[in-house]
Amino acid sequence: MNITILGTGNMAKGLASVFAAGGYDVILGSRDVARAKDTAKTLGGRVKGDGLMAAAQKSEVIVLAVPFEAAAETIAAAGGLAGKVLVDISNPLTPDYMGLTVGHSTSAAEEIQKLASEAKVVKAFNTVFASVLKGGGKVGKTPVTVFVAGDDEAANKTVETIGAKSGFSVLQSGGLKVARYLEPVAGLNIVLGYGKGHGTDIAPTWLLAA
Ligand SMILES: NC(=O)c1ccc[n+]([C@@H]2O[C@H](COP(=O)([O-])OP(=O)(O)OC[C@H]3O[C@@H](n4cnc5c(N)ncnc54)[C@H](OP(=O)(O)O)[C@@H]3O)[C@@H](O)[C@H]2O)c1
Repeated sequence: MNITILGTGNMAKGLASVFAAGGYDVILGSRDVARAKDTAKTLGGRVKGDGLMAAAQKSEVIVLAVPFEAAAETIAAAGGLAGKVLVDISNPLTPDYMGLTVGHSTSAAEEIQKLASEAKVVKAFNTVFASVLKGGGKVGKTPVTVFVAGDDEAANKTVETIGAKSGFSVLQSGGLKVARYLEPVAGLNIVLGYGKGHGTDIAPTWLLAA
């Protein structure tokens, strides 16, 4: 199965590596085809690069790994993403990273669903630091939690399978509206990592009795 990741930055590279290790073929999509191909070459044989539109056409699952502010232009350049499972990993951060620009009555995920109205948007991976991906999705030996939230059960299950095969601990968290809670969790992660000096080899999880 192919997974397309739009973007060539820290999260795109980290997710490409863990997905490839999980047995997936990955296509990085970039505004700059040469950058996509060059970046892919550094990530091993299962990762290829292409333009945004061509990359999007190669997979049914698309991970949007661009700044929230770039979501609209990226979705448009990728052709709208109708029918795709669209994984939103974004955190809509203020310039100082210490606040969110949307929340309470909406979320980045819900805004992205409006932009890609015919895609099945699933919130996931937004609470995972890129440096944790460099460590294979683990803190120490413990797989980090990926919270999954979306309105399409089959799409949620697809993302759960990808996360589990790639070595994460996956927690189904509800409908897309739950992104209103998941984005602040990432905000707390950033405050603890940068503001309180714990660094970025940390990850939030949930203790479950069963
Ligand atoms: N870094 C983290 O630890 C972390 C953790 C959880 C979630 N996230 C979220 O993951 C997403 C990607 O974060 P990142 O850290 O990977 O960012 P990054 O390293 O800055 O990479 C972002 C990528 O987005 C693409 N892009 C497209 N339009 C852009 C624009 N107008 N301005 C800048 N970049 C643009 C660029 O790829 P091309 O130039 O090749 O098109 C760029 O490489 C963000 O939404 C962020 O909130 C990040």
